[in-house]
Formats: sequence, C-alpha cells, structure tokens
Amino acid sequence: MDVIAAKPSFEMLDYLLKRRSLKVGEFVEPGPNAEQLQTLLTAAARVPDHGKLCPFYFLVFKGDARAQAGDILAEIFRGDHPDARADKIEDERQRFLRSPLVVGIVMRARPSKHPLWEQMMSASAVAQNFVLAANALGFGVQWLSEWYAYDERTRAAFGLDERDVVAGFMHVGSPAAAAQERPRPDLEKIVTFWQRGCSPEKGDCYDLGKFEFPEDGFDFSKLKRLVKAAQGL
Ligand SMILES: Cc1cc2nc3c(=O)[nH]c(=O)nc-3n(C[C@H](O)[C@H](O)[C@H](O)COP(=O)(O)O)c2cc1C
Repeated sequence: MDVIAAKPSFEMLDYLLKRRSLKVGEFVEPGPNAEQLQTLLTAAARVPDHGKLCPFYFLVFKGDARAQAGDILAEIFRGDHPDARADKIEDERQRFLRSPLVVGIVMRARPSKHPLWEQMMSASAVAQNFVLAANALGFGVQWLSEWYAYDERTRAAFGLDERDVVAGFMHVGSPAAAAQERPRPDLEKIVTFWQRGCSPEKGDCYDLGKFEFPEDGFDFSKLKRLVKAAQGL
C-alpha cells in the first residue's frame, strides 16, 4: 500500500524529536545547488491546502540578488535613521548575504469560501516543510521575519502587493556551528485528555504577564476587505 504513514521511519522520528534551527550567522557556503533547491521547494509546497488554493509563492534570493535586496534595506534604513553610523547601515546591507540562500515564503490570499486563517496556516505549513526539507538535505536553516517582512516599502520593492503577507524569510546554508538546545514546552502543562466537564490544562504557565499583546504586524482587516471586494461581496 502506497501510504507514507504505513512505513515507519525511526530515523525521521528521531530527527523530529531533536530538530533545531541554526542561527543566521552560523551558515557558510555551499548552499543548495539548483537540483537541491528544486527538491526543497517541491517538498515545501507539498502541504495540506484546503480547497487546493495554493495560497503561497516563493521569492528566491540567490547570488547577487541577495546584495540587491540588502541595498534596498540599507536605503530604507538610512532614510529612517539619517544619523545612523556607517556600520549599522552596512549591517542592513549584509542581511541577505549572511546565508548562501534566502527564500521568502509569501502567503497570497485567494478569494475563496475557505477562511483566510486556513490559507495562512497552509503558508505556515510551507515554511515548516521548508525547514524539515532543508535539514533532510543536510543544510541548516532559520525561519526569520525581521523588520523588513512588515515594512511596506520593502514589500513593494520586493514586488509584493496588498494580498500578500510574508510567512518568512528562510535562511539556508551549510552549518558552521552545532545547534544549541533550548527549553521545549512541557507536555504535562499543555495536554488534556478531554472528557465532558474536565478542566483543561491550557498552558497558562507560559503567559509571561509582563508584555502587552503585540501589534499584528500586518493589517489583516485590509486584506480581508480586499479579498471580499475581489469576490464582489
Ligand atoms: C513566523 C516566525 C518568525 C520568526 N522570526 C524570527 C526573527 O525575526 N528573528 C529571530 O531571531 N527568530 C525568529 N523566529 C524564530 C526562529 O525561526 C526559531 O524558531 C528559533 O531560532 C528557535 O528555533 P527552533 O525551535 O527551530 O530551534 C521566527 C519564527 C517564526 C515561526
């Protein structure tokens, strides 16, 4: 039977139980070659997708394109911080050059009966598949937003439009350092075997309490209006 789950893979399970991101700055050449990149994007795009809407696309920043992207960030940063030190502007210029390959994963909202939220989660699954596939090919990876994912000027310069939300800029390269472990959620505090009338373990212990909720980072109501307008609603 050609069902992938019918073939147990302890190697895959072992990987999932140990999976870790590297940090940008810990990547060196080489990055994926053309064939590996094709494999990586094919695996990333193979996600659950309610309604087969393909609510995502990729922006590949390779070679000199990384420097071009960095020039855009440096120009915007300099405009916003006219008194910035030269090394700070240079840091912005180097952002996409920190890794051999950067892939932007963009959620594009589709007019559909399927909720936008589900389309966003599909795009998020693309990003996580990308992480897993990059590791499976032997590369380190880190999923980043940083400031420019939410900056209207960068978005426009990268060719995004109002329907688009950045799911992530995925940095990929050969590992130059070992991944460090970090604390993981305690299942005792987040798992409830539900029964009627039970009091679920909701993970309240993870509320830090010292913060307000963050800004959305993106005007989702605008996106929703736009999709509705496209549907003639
Ligand atoms: C949507 C999203 C955006 C992220 N953006 C950033 C970021 O801008 N900067 C950062 O240091 N980590 C960011 N992270 C966190 C890293 O990708 C990663 O989770 C962290 O380094 C620990 O990874 P691990 O649990 O895979 O080891 C982001 C994660 C997600 C899911």
